[in-house]
Amino acid sequence: MGLTKQYLRYVSSAVFGVIGSQKANIAYVTLRGGEKGRYVAVAACEHVFIWDVRKAEKVLILQGQKHEVTFLCPSPDGVHIAVGYEDGAVRIFSLLNGESTVSFNGHKSAVTVINYDALGARLVTGSKDTDVIVWDVINECGLYRLKGHKDVITQALFLKKKNLLVTSSKDSFVKWWDLDTQHCFKTMVGHRSEVWGMLLLNQEDRLLTGSADSELRAWNISYLEEGKADGEPRVKKEKTLLEDDEDEDEEVDESPEERILSCKKFGSILREARDRVVSLTADNKARVIACHGNDSALELFTVLSEEEVQKKMNKKLKKAKKKAAKAQEAEEPVVERMLKDEIIRLTNIKASAKIRWVDCLSCAGGELKVALLLQNNTIETYSLRTLNNTPTANKTARLTLGGHRTDVRTLAFSSDNLAVLSASGDTVKVWNRSTLQVIRTMACEYALCSLFVPGDRQIILGTKSGKLQIFELASGSLLETVDAHDGAVWSLCLAPDQRGIVTGSADKTVKFWEFELIKDQGTAQKRLTVKHSRSLQLEEDVLCVKFSPDHRLLAVSLLDCTVKVFYTDTLKFFLSLYGHKLPVLCLDISHDSTLIATGSADRNVKIWGLDFGDCHRSMFAHDDSVMFLQFVPKTHLFFTAGKDKKIKQWDADKFEHIQTLEGHHREVWCLTISPSGDYIVSSGHDKSLRLWERTREPIILEEEREMEREAEVEESMAKGDVPVVPGETQGEAAPAGKKTVETVKAAERIMEVLELYREETRKMEEHKYACEKAGKELPPPQSNPILVAFGNVSPSRYVLDVIKKVRSSELEVSLLVLPFPYIPELLTLFNSYIQQGLEVELVCRCLFFLLKIHFGQISSNQMLLSVIDELRTNTLSKVCEIRNMMGFNSAALQFLQREIESKEDVMFFADATGRLDEKKKKKRKRERAVLTIA
Ligand SMILES: *[C@@H]1O[C@H](CO)[C@@H](O)[C@H](O)[C@H]1NC(C)=O
Ligand SMILES: *[C@@H]1O[C@H](CO)[C@@H](O)[C@H](O)[C@H]1NC(C)=O
Ligand SMILES: *[C@@H]1O[C@H](CO)[C@@H](O)[C@H](O)[C@H]1NC(C)=O
Ligand SMILES: *[C@@H]1O[C@H](CO)[C@@H](O)[C@H](O)[C@H]1NC(C)=O
Ligand SMILES: *[C@@H]1O[C@H](CO)[C@@H](O)[C@H](O)[C@H]1NC(C)=O
Repeated sequence: MGLTKQYLRYVSSAVFGVIGSQKANIAYVTLRGGEKGRYVAVAACEHVFIWDVRKAEKVLILQGQKHEVTFLCPSPDGVHIAVGYEDGAVRIFSLLNGESTVSFNGHKSAVTVINYDALGARLVTGSKDTDVIVWDVINECGLYRLKGHKDVITQALFLKKKNLLVTSSKDSFVKWWDLDTQHCFKTMVGHRSEVWGMLLLNQEDRLLTGSADSELRAWNISYLEEGKADGEPRVKKEKTLLEDDEDEDEEVDESPEERILSCKKFGSILREARDRVVSLTADNKARVIACHGNDSALELFTVLSEEEVQKKMNKKLKKAKKKAAKAQEAEEPVVERMLKDEIIRLTNIKASAKIRWVDCLSCAGGELKVALLLQNNTIETYSLRTLNNTPTANKTARLTLGGHRTDVRTLAFSSDNLAVLSASGDTVKVWNRSTLQVIRTMACEYALCSLFVPGDRQIILGTKSGKLQIFELASGSLLETVDAHDGAVWSLCLAPDQRGIVTGSADKTVKFWEFELIKDQGTAQKRLTVKHSRSLQLEEDVLCVKFSPDHRLLAVSLLDCTVKVFYTDTLKFFLSLYGHKLPVLCLDISHDSTLIATGSADRNVKIWGLDFGDCHRSMFAHDDSVMFLQFVPKTHLFFTAGKDKKIKQWDADKFEHIQTLEGHHREVWCLTISPSGDYIVSSGHDKSLRLWERTREPIILEEEREMEREAEVEESMAKGDVPVVPGETQGEAAPAGKKTVETVKAAERIMEVLELYREETRKMEEHKYACEKAGKELPPPQSNPILVAFGNVSPSRYVLDVIKKVRSSELEVSLLVLPFPYIPELLTLFNSYIQQGLEVELVCRCLFFLLKIHFGQISSNQMLLSVIDELRTNTLSKVCEIRNMMGFNSAALQFLQREIESKEDVMFFADATGRLDEKKKKKRKRERAVLTIA
């Protein structure tokens, strides 16, 4: 080994073993026009997996970065899916290619709900940070942040009928927002506990809410006619705009001055479950309601259509009339419409574990498909015919194969590096390392430790109940269960001569076992077993045992926080390693039997010499217990896994921390390194198994530390307040500042290009002056090489190009960061663009934003007067021009639509409107932007 050691980087290569993470919901999606109800999207830690439930195959992975997925929502056209993350980010992925094009950063903590509006043009997101944000999907920017709730947002729904939004929160309130004025005009205070779910039913005439009790409350919404409701609502609106806080405490429910709509309690449905609503959802047609609590029962209700309700009401009326006639009453009987005339119980579905999330989908022929994400890493789907009188749900699929129901506590690599075993509380699985497919799944007892028997044909597990279980891989069968110990078998180690194993247990003994082939009584074939040969009695529970690779010594870690080393042959005591303050949970001995490294619940790792038992170094390793430790074969480098979610690599000679592998979102329980040292597999409480691969990229420690510091800074920066909604200011703080790295970079690029523009303009002026002075044409000055590189574009055009390249979602924040001295120049440039009709829409967007945020400075600047004046006339005329063109196009498209409608059959038409709608959407957007200024 040379003077400088080379460390190679390990990188994350795959996440497997997760079928669906608990944090986010499950949603039916359509994939490439595939059949409905075949694909579901679920979170898998930081990724989104799309499963084909029929084939139980993962068909698409939407790659995340670092933070866990917390909510999913497919777009109405089924082409995109919006994904919310733990850190508050929202990204939109295409379901066609799995790529993400748009990202929205506005929330400070986990996104808890996402919904599209009916056209798919706007998105509403709610978060743990109590804010609700409405985003413009087409322009990729924030529209408004709605503040008012005081706890986690649990639901947010757009209305179709009006430009309204309704939100619910754990703060027990349901709020109605007028999106025209971005103002909460009504707060419903009828719930005394958290509102966990909410639905709009019956063409948005009913609101159904679920809370902490077993009552689902239904509310009758009636829309008041504008202007008729009370005297001067407009004036009031303006006034209350600034009095948002007061609004909340007002009991608007009973207030006589209702505006826009009234919402009265109409009835309630009693659920069978007594605990809180965990999720409340309806199918795509809002005909079936599904609801469940924190248990395994799903309750389904049918929402009757208006005709069905009318039929029912008529029947009721007839009956009442008959009765009245019998009783010879003079008055005409009246029958009141009740909730039970509209919503009736359908059936219950009993899942095989607690339900975490539900989604349902109505298909042709009255078939209802239900997808359940269960709390034990399982997805189940059911189907039922809602038209039957007594519908029963049939289970149609269950996805369990690709992961464990409970946490994996032990992992092992086969000697050929090709297979990995993972074992949990009830099953052991063997995976193909290259495809990450499950090769074998076998039922076992609660496994704590494991290994492949040399030859890789059998595996041995040590269990919590003190047993050793031997499985044969070829047949996938349990060969034998040996009663080995009276307490949990915490540790297993293969003897270096490969002839047997040693086990350490909570019953304070270490036992030696030899491999033996015996004749099986049943099949008369030879099979493997283990024969107990020797025992070593200790005073304390044994947590970990390890042979030195030269087979001379055996290290045993005990509950009394020491590690005792014995001679293997005589079992005589050799040394004791004192120093850890809490028990040593893991240890390993280097390949040359010189070093022993120990990891403890006291968060430290200690490296000891095995000759004298002297501690070479103690290092603070993790922010929580060190759960697992293993040397990379043939090196003095080792990995540790911590309860602090991290995996770290260390150098046992230089006592250096080399790198940190971050990925797990919960405690890491164990890891295993392949005999070649090229692969690591780790398992954690987040149910994920992660494969890490060694690359050829060398690690330079100083750079690594530098990167870690940068990442920390970035993280703290990302936590800062990011105004994403145009003109938004955060509390009393000025809208100054550095925001995300991207926006700062974008602002820097704009500044750079403005500098360049200045420089070029100065050069041109000097040139003009020189020409005049000389009285003749001089050769023009050299253009800036950047401009030449971009095909000799003019400097002003180049400025526009740079602005155009700023991601739409980051545009406003980037402009916000731009120092004022650049603004006058920008305004002059904007004027010229508008005159030339270049990118009018984009330029207007920037212009209005700048005017809004720098209003004071711009209006007090005499020099800018003429520019602003010119801008006003130019902008108005240009925008009118565009509006007219838009209007013309819109009318033409509508005409075409009518033409097509009258010619083509329905099938084609449905398809065509889809596309037309999309175009119209875009247009409408633009129209709106235009109208607000005109
Ligand atoms: C809902 O409220 C409106 C207005 O208050 C009322 O006219 C209507 O009858 C109510 N509907 C039901 C079913 O109670
Ligand atoms: C369900 O109940 C268990 C045990 O009471 C609790 O730990 C868990 O957080 C609950 N889950 C939800 C989603 O409320
Ligand atoms: C967990 O999931 C499996 C599906 O294989 C199921 O059989 C089991 O009963 C579930 N429930 C619990 C509580 O483990
Ligand atoms: C459910 O299973 C029963 C009996 O196996 C069958 O008669 C029924 O048609 C099935 N229902 C659905 C919706 O497939
Ligand atoms: C793993 O899968 C690859 C590719 O399908 C195959 O070639 C290999 O034999 C498999 N390995 C094992 C151990 O099953």
